[in-house]
Amino acid sequence: MGLEIVWEWSMLALRWLHLVAAIAWIGSSFYFIALDLGLKKPKQAPPGVLGEEWQVHGGGFYHIQKYGVAPEHMPDDLVWFKWEAYTTWLSGFALLCVMYYAGAHLYLIDPAVMPLSRWQAILISLVVLVAGWVVYDQLCKRLITLGDTAVFIILFIFMSLVGFALTHVYSGRGAFIHIGAMTATIMAANVAHVIIPNQRVVVADLIAGRKPDPIYGKIAKQRSLHNNYLTLPVIFFFIANHYPLATNTGWSWLIIALVLVMGALIRHFFNTLHATGRHLLWVWVATLALFVVIIGLSTYPAVRSLPQEEAAGVPFDPLDGQMRELVRSQEFDAAQATIMARCSMCHSRQPLWEGMAHPPLGVVLESEFDIAREASRIARQAVLSHAMPPGNVTGMTEDERAQLARWLRNDG
Ligand code: HEC
Repeated sequence: MGLEIVWEWSMLALRWLHLVAAIAWIGSSFYFIALDLGLKKPKQAPPGVLGEEWQVHGGGFYHIQKYGVAPEHMPDDLVWFKWEAYTTWLSGFALLCVMYYAGAHLYLIDPAVMPLSRWQAILISLVVLVAGWVVYDQLCKRLITLGDTAVFIILFIFMSLVGFALTHVYSGRGAFIHIGAMTATIMAANVAHVIIPNQRVVVADLIAGRKPDPIYGKIAKQRSLHNNYLTLPVIFFFIANHYPLATNTGWSWLIIALVLVMGALIRHFFNTLHATGRHLLWVWVATLALFVVIIGLSTYPAVRSLPQEEAAGVPFDPLDGQMRELVRSQEFDAAQATIMARCSMCHSRQPLWEGMAHPPLGVVLESEFDIAREASRIARQAVLSHAMPPGNVTGMTEDERAQLARWLRNDG
């Protein structure tokens, strides 16, 4: 079990990094959008300055000026904002690999939706990430003459269609993580392939003493605006993963579409506030109405998953011999009996536990297949730690935990 422990802590460290990088990225993005919208025309300023703002923070005053295209001469020191975005994407992709690719049977594949093998699921994932960016990028390039709103509507339709497709291929969690990962990939690629390269062209022009073309700044601004409106939905998609009511109902695809609208509306409220000082109250009324609709959708129809008899007959992924071994182990019957006695009243398709409508976090422990595919989580929750059963409400004994450990070590 030593390796399991190192693995578990590495995952925590990776998540920590990912979250901190994302906070830095989104924080600086919020800051610059608000700064941009709040700029005032300067009374007297160097040539080329479009707007300025005074700010006070952390015991000092700041005086920031924005140049229309670029200053006349290249400044000696120039701070770039890019590693926040790159680190967020890289750590996010690493998490996708270790959680969703390595644990494909746990998180990515739902045989009730589509009986994929691990490699099919991973291949689809990579195609979604790459194709999502290519299609988005082409749409932006070809539609640059249309207004911002028209482009937004087309992008909304595109992303909703992808959401619909994903919920019909992957498990609920898998679909949500992928609509989130595709959006985040688009956002990071906007920084890496459009915003920063365009900025570099301007810098190169300045160094060469040429006058930079304002088109580069314009294109970068369009992408930066998209990133701004996508921030809130993308965060929702990632945290919704821990809430099966969002991810595991028949309407999850529609919830994805409505969340895109809700997130964009909230950003619109703050953008308007920062630009004009006006409070658009209708935005909150509309957002709240959408949220109520989402709550309603999530309760109808209930959880999509295999009926127990069918689940028992689902073929194991031939690549996953380890899972098969877990079921064939001599210790399996005793382990299954323990789990039925101590866990299944909550972790079943129709929980018997008073007041519980759905299996918590979508974790179902009923059939052999269920138990085998949740083996490593069972280890973490009930053997390595005593997190489950919560407060040991079902009175699990130390002997039973030791018995589960023997089964998991497979040395019975
Ligand atoms: C009284 C009801 C109840 C019982 C009994 C119970 N659980 Fe849970 N289980 C929960 C709840 C509630 C959660 C969700 C906790 C959360 O939201 O973080 C959960 C979550 C889990 C998770 C997912 C944890 C995660 O964060 O991924 C696993 C795995 C799990 N339980 C395994 C077990 C096992 C194994 C047993 C029996 C030894 C068991 N549970 C017994 C209520 C129960």
